[in-house]
Amino acid sequence: MSDFLRLAEDIAREAGDMLLAKRPMMSKEIETKSSPTDVVTALDTASEELIRERILAARPGDRILGEEGGEGPGESDVRWIVDPIDGTVNFLYGLPEWAVSIAVEVGGRVVAGVVNVPARGEVYTAALGEGAWLGGERLHCNTGVPLPQALVATGFGYSVARRAVQGQVVAAVLTRVRDIRRGGSCAIDMCSLAAGRVDAYYERGINPWDYAAAGLVATESGARLGGLHGRPVSPEFAICAAPGLFEELHDLLVTLDPERDA
Ligand code: IPD
Repeated sequence: MSDFLRLAEDIAREAGDMLLAKRPMMSKEIETKSSPTDVVTALDTASEELIRERILAARPGDRILGEEGGEGPGESDVRWIVDPIDGTVNFLYGLPEWAVSIAVEVGGRVVAGVVNVPARGEVYTAALGEGAWLGGERLHCNTGVPLPQALVATGFGYSVARRAVQGQVVAAVLTRVRDIRRGGSCAIDMCSLAAGRVDAYYERGINPWDYAAAGLVATESGARLGGLHGRPVSPEFAICAAPGLFEELHDLLVTLDPERDA
């Protein structure tokens, strides 16, 4: 497992260095993806290509699921889950909250995860059963925080219909918690939770490349990660928080029917 983590970290650092070095020249190269607010830069594609090349050079038989290129072929039970830039809009606007996220799944279970936040100089790592780390520091999420005192991170999808519901839900949550944060990167939100910088996170519509690596960082820091009604985390819904706060936030969210899209 440590070989997987080392390789994932080396590759995430290389991609992050490339993105930092090239960002000023290329960030205006915008394509739109699912809606006009979903920007994909040429560097998203370049970052994913670099990551795919490095993985396949080291582990030619493995499968790779990437945000930009989808899932490639492969017979191996090892699958790499890659977000070449999580927080693309921040990246485009020169904000520091964007990350390169790489997870390694074996037999359907994430065993290693790396979230590199180059503009902050922070690299979060986690290995299944071995803890979550930021540099040399072991991470522990905040515990014992009641919902009214919780700082809650969330995010919004790109579709207008979904955003309308997400706006209603967050308006109701806002009156029940300490405050809301919208950082713009699911991966960083979950790593921030692991580091105790926020207490909870929820969102509808995130994808495995957004949460695979950071989800392991969060759970290895002591957090619970799941969906609504005991379901596992999925694009349908994600909640992450220490046990206790997880259930309080879950029970509030359920009353708001947050899985509807209109
Ligand atoms: C997005 C970010 C954002 C979240 C969106 C994601 P992208 O990923 O994680 O925080 O709210 O749901 O799609 O598009 O920047 O890779």
